[in-house]
Amino acid sequence: MSAQRILVTAALPYANGHLHIGHMVEFIQTDIWCRFQRLLGHNCIFVHADDTHGTATMIRARQEGRPEVEILADMQAAHMADLADFQVEQVHYGSTNSEANRALCHEFWAAFREQGLVAERDVEQLFDPEAGMFLADRFVKGTCPRCGEPDQYGDHCEQCNATYSPSELVNPYSTLTGAKPELRTSKHLFVQIHQLQDFLTEWVDANDHLQDEVANYLKGFFLGEPLKEWDISRPAPYFGFEIPDAPGQFWYVWFDAPIGYVSSTKEWCDKTGEDFDTWWRSPDTRIVHVIGKDIIYFHCLFWPAMLKTAGFRLPERVQIHGMLTVDGAKMSKSRGTFVLARTYLEHLDPAYLRYFYASKLTNTLDDFDLGLEEFVNKINSDLVGKVVNLASRTAKFVKGVGLSAAYPDDGGLFEAAATEGDAIRDAYEGFEYAQAMRRIMALADRANEYVEAEAPWALKKDPEKAEALQDVCTVALNLFRQLVIYLAPVLPRLAAQVGELLGAPIERWDESRTPLVGTPVAKFKHLMQRVDPEKVKAMIEDSREAQAASETAAPTAAADDGAALAAEPIADECTYDDFMKIDLRVARVAKAEHVDGAKKLLKLTLSLGGDETRTVFAGIKSAYQPEQLEGRLVVCVANLAPRKMKFGVSEGMVVAAGPGGQDVFLLSPDSGAVPGQRVH
Ligand code: 2FM
Ligand code: ZN
Repeated sequence: MSAQRILVTAALPYANGHLHIGHMVEFIQTDIWCRFQRLLGHNCIFVHADDTHGTATMIRARQEGRPEVEILADMQAAHMADLADFQVEQVHYGSTNSEANRALCHEFWAAFREQGLVAERDVEQLFDPEAGMFLADRFVKGTCPRCGEPDQYGDHCEQCNATYSPSELVNPYSTLTGAKPELRTSKHLFVQIHQLQDFLTEWVDANDHLQDEVANYLKGFFLGEPLKEWDISRPAPYFGFEIPDAPGQFWYVWFDAPIGYVSSTKEWCDKTGEDFDTWWRSPDTRIVHVIGKDIIYFHCLFWPAMLKTAGFRLPERVQIHGMLTVDGAKMSKSRGTFVLARTYLEHLDPAYLRYFYASKLTNTLDDFDLGLEEFVNKINSDLVGKVVNLASRTAKFVKGVGLSAAYPDDGGLFEAAATEGDAIRDAYEGFEYAQAMRRIMALADRANEYVEAEAPWALKKDPEKAEALQDVCTVALNLFRQLVIYLAPVLPRLAAQVGELLGAPIERWDESRTPLVGTPVAKFKHLMQRVDPEKVKAMIEDSREAQAASETAAPTAAADDGAALAAEPIADECTYDDFMKIDLRVARVAKAEHVDGAKKLLKLTLSLGGDETRTVFAGIKSAYQPEQLEGRLVVCVANLAPRKMKFGVSEGMVVAAGPGGQDVFLLSPDSGAVPGQRVH
């Protein structure tokens, strides 16, 4: 088999946030594949970078009063440290804000222009006169033009599901400053992607570039009719690269982001003396992009179109995975399941998560779940109970003695497991890691049966059986080593430790075919601890607390800029007596329940102390889970006339701030307050 040249990428993480365990699915998946290819002897590199441009970075820089590049440097250092600690190995970590990326953007752009693929049109867009910038849809809110629901986002109403353009919103306001946006016209540049329709149809149709479900989706939804032109520019101010032949216009972040794959390779080539064209223009290079299913369109239509136009090598494969849920639900900050990579690392061994993800990942787009109990059980049963246990029960008996000089008769176990290696290899190659892990664990079961049957601990008691003991341990440790070779792409640290234990580093997949004989066996050191469920709990608790701390932290100066006040000016004056008519009381949430059929409401039973209760229907469902509320103190309007609602009678109100939807913030008294106390 001749060595292949393989270039692999994963989606470049945005530079405006830390990595979390959702990101790690993809980075671990990619790293496993690259390590597997290298174990086979291929020249496989994983190049990576931060995705830096766009409005979000610009706004964060304004909020923090720091230049963008400072934020980018901090985030890049944090991302790189997280990846290194998860044993994700990349040859180079670039940035889309680099000179190499700028130069390549120019090159791609020149090709678009030369091939007549760029058109220019005026576009009307809302502009925030206070922030001095055009507003993307998510930065505009207002009243739904269809149902009149206030505080809806710029492109659709969460209440009635209407979609519209931000300019149709009634009483629109900028979520950045609260200012009333103005409709302004600016020039935008568009890529006429439909001119590449035939090429794209052919590319999507060709074998193996895409999983079948992705190819069918693209053909069904997009390629059946002319592709819409792609708005590739954004007017200043925008944090990005200015378009050379359109002053005041910047490339939209999704233009320069994937070019980051190429520019990061370029930087690596410049650093190492590798030939750039060989990596990105040679038909002998295999290029593989790993992405999540949320960014299919960009990678399977725009990106091939860009590469084709600029004369680069097209990806052999775009490998797409589903999304992670934790304990059956979307990661949630309030539940503590939105776990940052760093928080995970502070509590748990990265090997656990690498193995758990491997045991779940398939070649489909199905979402998969990190069930926390399942996580603990799987690691303890598979890695500790089945794999590591093989060595911990045998290595000590041959320490200083070493493995037998000839491989003993094992009834064909080693040979059978070597043959199974082909199926495991194919599963890795096809991104069917879950299948690979299942096959490996089945082999581990057989190896454990062997150890149980031969009972080396019993042989140890009889000095006459020293040779038999050495033979049994030689077989067990070879079966163990074979498993560890198969697991090496997933568990590189374990592979290195086992290399030391058995006096032969694990470097090639094919080493699984030949048993080790006659090598010394070192003193057995712990290879892996059991997962302590308390540490998992502590990780969740820390994640929840980090969220709570960020919620109660003093708002930044930029958040104190009057936007909230501008969105809802202060009401007409009232007298003290007017105010005293409203009887506000401290209450404890005795019960919080979902209401069948209600999209926004939770039913709360509030205790005012003693037997006094109120049933209140509160529009806080998007912001709170019932279980978060039970037991906590709130402030309620205790003398509000009961109101008949669709789902029952509401006997009061809980006091909350914020515009609505997910942005609702219940008010709580400081500790010490008791239910029934009046709030003055
Ligand atoms: O969706 C995202 O997280 C993007 N930052 C991915 C970019 S991938 C590539 F195009 F750079
Ligand atoms: Zn509506």
